[in-house]
Amino acid sequence: MKCAMELFEALATTRAIRRFRPEPIPDDDLSTILFAATRAPSGSNRQTFRFLVLRAQDAETLAARQLLGGACRAQWAAKRDADGYNADRRPSPGAVRLAAAIDHFVTHFEKIPVVVLACLDRYRAPSPLEGASVYPAVQNLLLAARALGYGGVITQWHSAVEPELRTLLHIPDSVAIHAMVPLGRPMGQHGPVRRRPLTDFVSDGHWGSAAPWLHEPEGVRHTTPGLPRPVDGPE
Ligand SMILES: Cc1cc2nc3c(=O)[nH]c(=O)nc-3n(C[C@H](O)[C@H](O)[C@H](O)COP(=O)(O)O)c2cc1C
Repeated sequence: MKCAMELFEALATTRAIRRFRPEPIPDDDLSTILFAATRAPSGSNRQTFRFLVLRAQDAETLAARQLLGGACRAQWAAKRDADGYNADRRPSPGAVRLAAAIDHFVTHFEKIPVVVLACLDRYRAPSPLEGASVYPAVQNLLLAARALGYGGVITQWHSAVEPELRTLLHIPDSVAIHAMVPLGRPMGQHGPVRRRPLTDFVSDGHWGSAAPWLHEPEGVRHTTPGLPRPVDGPE
């Protein structure tokens, strides 16, 4: 397989993409992305991750897309209000930008070229740890998409309509849906992800002990944890 992009560049620039251009993802690219996803590790190599791809225009798929779009809009409307993204709460510039991206995402949800449901085909009773056998595959999927110039975002807004979704798409009870990942060509630019400094994440030897051997690449910019603060200063 040709090398699409340097791995470390992909790791450093795979950020959440919520605004998509309308052009479809060609079969070959989608297949390559899913191949990469399915090379991920899983507990005991049971390979229980599964992907349900919503891209066709048949009535069931369209109904599922509408159901999911409605769930996204409802959940975001509640979060937008509860978390202070609305104008009356003096949102910070970062929060305004994020809210605009999510507004666009939920408004245009049905036009997103591909929506992938990342699932787990359970072989034992539900466990709080079972997602650990799905999310490596989801991150592989996002990295492969990035390498080919596509983008996406992990979301969990499908959960509000899960029973109806299962019925529509014939998803058996034995299958858990762990994430909904839209994919497509980004409207804006990919860019470097921003996180806390490397030293905030790593202890050396015992908890809280600094690791003097850590170093970051030149020019890395940081951010505080969490989404951009909705409110500037005390209310
Ligand atoms: C487990 C998980 C659940 C998430 N759920 C949502 C979601 O429901 N809606 C959404 O817009 N983004 C969701 N995200 C995306 C995160 O907000 C995003 O990955 C994070 O803010 C980092 O974004 P960045 O890589 O662009 O910096 C989720 C991410 C993860 C890992």
